[in-house]
Amino acid sequence: MGAETTIPLDFPRQTRRLRLGIVGGGEGSFIGKVHARGARLSNRWTVVAGALSSRPAVALQSGQDWFLDDDRIYTDYREMAAQEGSRPDGIDAVSIATPNNTHFDIACAFMEQGIDVICDKPLTTNLESALELARRQKASGLVFGVTYAYAANAMVRQAREMVRNGSLGALKQIHVEYFQEWALTPPAEGGAGAQWRVKPEQVGEAFATGDIGTHCHHLGSFVAGLPMTSVKAEFHTLGPDKPLEDTAFMHVRYQGGIPGTIMISQVAAGTHCGFRIRVFGEKASLEWNQEEPEYLHFRPFAEPARLLTRGEGAGIGQHAARFVHMPRGHPEALSDAWANLYEEFAVAINARRTGADLPQGLLEYPTIWDGVLGVKFIQAAVQSHRLDAAWVSCEVDGDAKRLATSCFMQ
Ligand code: NAI
Repeated sequence: MGAETTIPLDFPRQTRRLRLGIVGGGEGSFIGKVHARGARLSNRWTVVAGALSSRPAVALQSGQDWFLDDDRIYTDYREMAAQEGSRPDGIDAVSIATPNNTHFDIACAFMEQGIDVICDKPLTTNLESALELARRQKASGLVFGVTYAYAANAMVRQAREMVRNGSLGALKQIHVEYFQEWALTPPAEGGAGAQWRVKPEQVGEAFATGDIGTHCHHLGSFVAGLPMTSVKAEFHTLGPDKPLEDTAFMHVRYQGGIPGTIMISQVAAGTHCGFRIRVFGEKASLEWNQEEPEYLHFRPFAEPARLLTRGEGAGIGQHAARFVHMPRGHPEALSDAWANLYEEFAVAINARRTGADLPQGLLEYPTIWDGVLGVKFIQAAVQSHRLDAAWVSCEVDGDAKRLATSCFMQ
């Protein structure tokens, strides 16, 4: 299936575990706990500090439940940034797992203290603040990762490698879909149904497009190795009444004019996390579905289909093999993908802190620029919908391009 790349199979060693702080993730919340679990599972991080909730009592109780030292349980992220920035054993990085409208201020507070940042998506609620964050990151030289974690599944890395090594031939079509049902239940306080997700002042201009559409945007570009150039979107609100869309259907174009689609809905009864990508080339196609993440379907033209399973050898490239922790038959899934991502963040942050050089192409984690492009995609889709599904550019123009270092531009 084509030539292997020549970068080393193993990531460089570290001399100590890095120290991580988390904002968000306390009792009753969703993704912050997943960040913590991924970091711990990677064996490269210790979670030592947190401002785990906007509610002081929950922040304190959750900090104790996480076995944080009392003096590193904070009720205000600003205090956490200041204190951790001045401790000799302060955190090496902060993970931000709070509602979208808070990401900018929290990221800035920690960057000002020289602390590397891992931020959840969407990066911010508008393009101006996303670009400002990218400017500040560039000026600081800090590592800034964004947690599009699905792309750290071993078999997604395999798919990307197979596209890159020509197993599909020239790409012709890219289709990404994400169907969920949870928003059929009216928004509730806390958890995945948190009300902030449908309040424009907290979530931004879109609901489903920001929440799961950005995952489609990232995965399509990541696997294809191509930026998306334009989008033509139609939004619908098909579930319980809300001010924003819970469903969207889009035509998209990638660099070189390659056409594709994105279909998303969070009110599709009977679905759970039906996130799937299909890439068609002139010689073959690939299909990956996050509900069966161990498998990658490879279907050459006019030949029997092949089912590639996560593991080492037998057609599996090193970008996937690097993330194989269990033999075939012992399933790995989303928590392992988070751990893979946290391993890459650790390698990047450790290298920045020690001044070590890393081989080009070793790391493929989403950067702040992937976050910026995600916000631009949301803005473009909203605009397109408002213009009766006109084509709108997803590219970031002008000087801003100089900020670009994206994992799919390597
Ligand atoms: P959630 O509502 O379950 O939890 C948010 C947490 O942030 C709560 O604990 C809340 O108290 C806390 N918080 C809010 N403001 C805070 C502040 N100023 N200081 C400290 N804590 C604060 O939300 P969820 O689902 O965990 O989402 C958080 C972020 O993660 C969002 O940006 C969302 O888009 C993203 N997300 C990403 C996923 C992924 O697959 N990468 C999956 C789910 C969410």
